[in-house]
Amino acid sequence: MDGAVSERLDLAGKHLVLGLSGGIACYKAAELTRALVKAGATVQVVMTEAAAQFITPVTLQALSNRSVYTSQWDAREPNNMAHINLTREADAVLVAPASADFMAKLLHGRADDLLSLMCLARPIERCPLLLAPAMNREMWAHPATQRNVAQLRADGATVLGPDTGEQACREFGEGRMLEPEDLLEEVVAFFQPKSLVGRRVLITAGPTFEAIDPVRGITNLSSGKMGFAIARAAREAGAQVTLVAGPVHLPTPRGVQRVDVRTAQQMFDAVLPAVPQHDVFVATAAVADWRPASLSEQKIKKNGSKVAPSFELTENPDILAAVARLPRRPFCVGFAAESHDLLKHAREKLVRKNVPLIVGNLGPATFGRDDNALLLVDAHSQRELPQADKLTLARQLVAEIASRITAMTT
Ligand code: CTP
Repeated sequence: MDGAVSERLDLAGKHLVLGLSGGIACYKAAELTRALVKAGATVQVVMTEAAAQFITPVTLQALSNRSVYTSQWDAREPNNMAHINLTREADAVLVAPASADFMAKLLHGRADDLLSLMCLARPIERCPLLLAPAMNREMWAHPATQRNVAQLRADGATVLGPDTGEQACREFGEGRMLEPEDLLEEVVAFFQPKSLVGRRVLITAGPTFEAIDPVRGITNLSSGKMGFAIARAAREAGAQVTLVAGPVHLPTPRGVQRVDVRTAQQMFDAVLPAVPQHDVFVATAAVADWRPASLSEQKIKKNGSKVAPSFELTENPDILAAVARLPRRPFCVGFAAESHDLLKHAREKLVRKNVPLIVGNLGPATFGRDDNALLLVDAHSQRELPQADKLTLARQLVAEIASRITAMTT
């Protein structure tokens, strides 16, 4: 996680009840508590007796800065009803880890300990239940667990994960609890406005790399961060997202389908066939305009020569313009990375690429950085999105795109 993310306080003002049921994944609950608190949430921890075998309430009290509840007989509450009081101010209950046994209990509405009692007694309409399952792969795959999970979903629970990988029991498979940073990303996404539900969004991101010989090439300083932030923001808004990425070193946002490419031609070949399955196309990639006309099979050597090698360049296809020319085109958004005269160049690109929206930014001020400032330009107006971290800007841009496509279809 970078600095800008933690400063963004994505969960400011949210009060979460974090429930722990028994399982080795309880060790991840300490990091999770810390991550939720760092993101601005207040966290009230509730543990089952089994959970307290794996991690102590003392640890979670210190990290959440609140005393932990473990028993329905806890006399601290004046009315002696912790199972009622705890969820009345909560924005959500997150059970992480949610063991197979705990989910089986929830399913039947059983309530013989504080955590299950509290889940049953929560106001179901305004206090959603999020479950992060954690168990051995055989337990997860068992028809009983799968039946329980399906029914819990039908009863309104949101199931986060589980992940696939090596398990504490040394077996390999599906059932691991999501890592704390992934759970944080899911919880943050859960609270974002769902302005793109049912929409499919295709995004290009990053630079392209055009090889000159086996060890050299033409590329640029684009880091891909803006495109990846837009992919995350679109998915948070409920869209199905495909991200076609040039060579970048960035983790794939959760729930996003990623296609890796290297050259402009490969990006073109990945994008064009995918267009008909998408409602929105956002071209953030800094596509190389030119590529060497021919690739040298071997490394170009100096061989004592003082004459610089020269090679011819061929123009790459313009991906955005090609998509915008299609008869049944998606809603197309282009980017303009400029060094000067942003508005003038953005307007020119709007016309030249024939798209309804261009997002202008100053290349040198954004490439590789975590923050940016954007200028949204359409045929009639322009609007500035002032300096902020890229995910904040991406969320604002996604809201803008959502309102434009809603206006077109209503
Ligand atoms: N773009 C694209 N394919 C290309 C070139 C650009 O899809 N071969 C897209 C970019 O992803 C961006 C927009 O077109 O959304 C504008 O890119 P930019 O490089 O700023 O514009 P160019 O058309 O290359 O114009 P110039 O280099 O003259 O500024």
